[in-house]
Amino acid sequence: MQSTLLVTGAAGQIAYSLLFSIAKGDVFGKDQPIILVLLDIPPMMTVLDGVVMELQDCALPLLKEVIPTDKEEVAFKDLDVAILVGSMPRRDGMERKDLLKANVAIFKSQGAALDKYAKKTRLWERAVNIQVLVVGNPANTNCLIAAKSAPSIPKENFSCLTRLDHNRARSQVAMRCGVPASHVKNVIIWGNHSSTQYPDVHHCKVNMSGSELACFDAVKDDKWLTGEFISTVQQRGAAVIKARKLSSAMSAAKAICDHMRDIWSGTAEGEFISMGVYSTGNSYGVAEDLIYSFPVEIKNKTWKIVDGLTINKFSQEKMDATAAELIEERDTAVSYLAV
Ligand SMILES: NC(=O)c1ccc[n+]([C@@H]2O[C@H](COP(=O)([O-])OP(=O)(O)OC[C@H]3O[C@@H](n4cnc5c(N)ncnc54)[C@H](O)[C@@H]3O)[C@@H](O)[C@H]2O)c1
Ligand SMILES: *[C@@H]1O[C@H](CO)[C@@H](O)[C@H](O)[C@H]1NC(C)=O
Ligand SMILES: *[C@@H]1O[C@H](CO)[C@@H](O)[C@H](O)[C@H]1NC(C)=O
Ligand SMILES: *[C@@H]1O[C@H](CO)[C@@H](O)[C@H](O)[C@H]1NC(C)=O
Ligand SMILES: *[C@@H]1O[C@H](CO)[C@@H](O)[C@H](O)[C@H]1NC(C)=O
Repeated sequence: MQSTLLVTGAAGQIAYSLLFSIAKGDVFGKDQPIILVLLDIPPMMTVLDGVVMELQDCALPLLKEVIPTDKEEVAFKDLDVAILVGSMPRRDGMERKDLLKANVAIFKSQGAALDKYAKKTRLWERAVNIQVLVVGNPANTNCLIAAKSAPSIPKENFSCLTRLDHNRARSQVAMRCGVPASHVKNVIIWGNHSSTQYPDVHHCKVNMSGSELACFDAVKDDKWLTGEFISTVQQRGAAVIKARKLSSAMSAAKAICDHMRDIWSGTAEGEFISMGVYSTGNSYGVAEDLIYSFPVEIKNKTWKIVDGLTINKFSQEKMDATAAELIEERDTAVSYLAV
């Protein structure tokens, strides 16, 4: 059976890397035929046609069909996966609240379209098996708005991307220890995908010289781990923009693939990853009704927050600060939902 996958913002820079990786089998495996549905806004349709031509020219064996569109009713029909990358970008002089308002409008409409057009079984008239990943910023709040606007799809089927931050943290530790990134596991990104996020290495393990060490013992520099390491990860997006004059795209696409592949195939035994998921108020003192980045394990396409990790005062304060930011943003966003 083929999988049908929607990518929004499909004419943009993240999509340019992402579509190739997905179409060649990095996410769903080398045996899974796929149909790609590509949504962007009307002025981008000629650009999108170019992307479609290039996908055709890749001559990929798994890619069965590519459907470019600017219509939600076409884009959101019968999907297995929706990756929502497109959002309203900040323009010079645009006020924060106007930006949020524009994004609420986009994700309200796309959430409603998911609800209406996602695959339904005849008997139950419910969407089946859809997974929705929100990437477009403000990712956490956009994800919450989409989930709230799609009442027939469980909140558990929505997540937002903090895997790029997770990968950045992992790589910083790996470079510091002189090991490959694959030898570093269980870093955690808590909270919002912004500079208040908290990259936490208190439960991280590093495989060094043949044994598994706690990150603090491997790095042997507490000052760096509780200072510069954190700010480097928090500010990494800005550093990339400053250098490249464009925001992270290749690494964002890679992170999206990691995130989706783990949802599809599960996380490795004893390992957890970070993703923004719906908080029910039962974990780590985080308020309910937020999309907050937690450590999660995934089995059988179902994520579970890794509970019971010990949290010190240093960490708790940072986790609370990023939650406070999300609560404020949610309340403003929800006030725009009504209108
Ligand atoms: N969560 C993360 O870790 C993370 C990382 C990097 C970037 N981002 C965010 O991802 C988004 C995309 O980044 P990019 O570099 O590809 O941007 P981009 O500007 O190159 O592309 C965005 C595309 O989205 C399209 N778009 C805008 N509104 C749309 C709508 N309503 N429906 C469909 N398409 C729409 C635009 O026309 C454009 O083609 C941005 O919001 C960026 O901030 C998130
Ligand atoms: C939500 O995700 C689970 C796990 O993949 C799936 O079994 C279920 O069908 C999904 N629900 C909907 C409504 O898509
Ligand atoms: C939360 O993070 C997003 C990036 O996803 C950012 O755009 C937003 O401004 C942050 N929220 C607040 C209230 O700072
Ligand atoms: C650590 O890495 C080595 C290879 O460098 C590998 O042989 C070993 O199994 C790894 N140990 C753990 C605990 O992952
Ligand atoms: C996997 O999840 C589905 C529904 O999401 C459930 O029907 C099935 O029993 C689960 N399988 C296992 C092995 O837990």
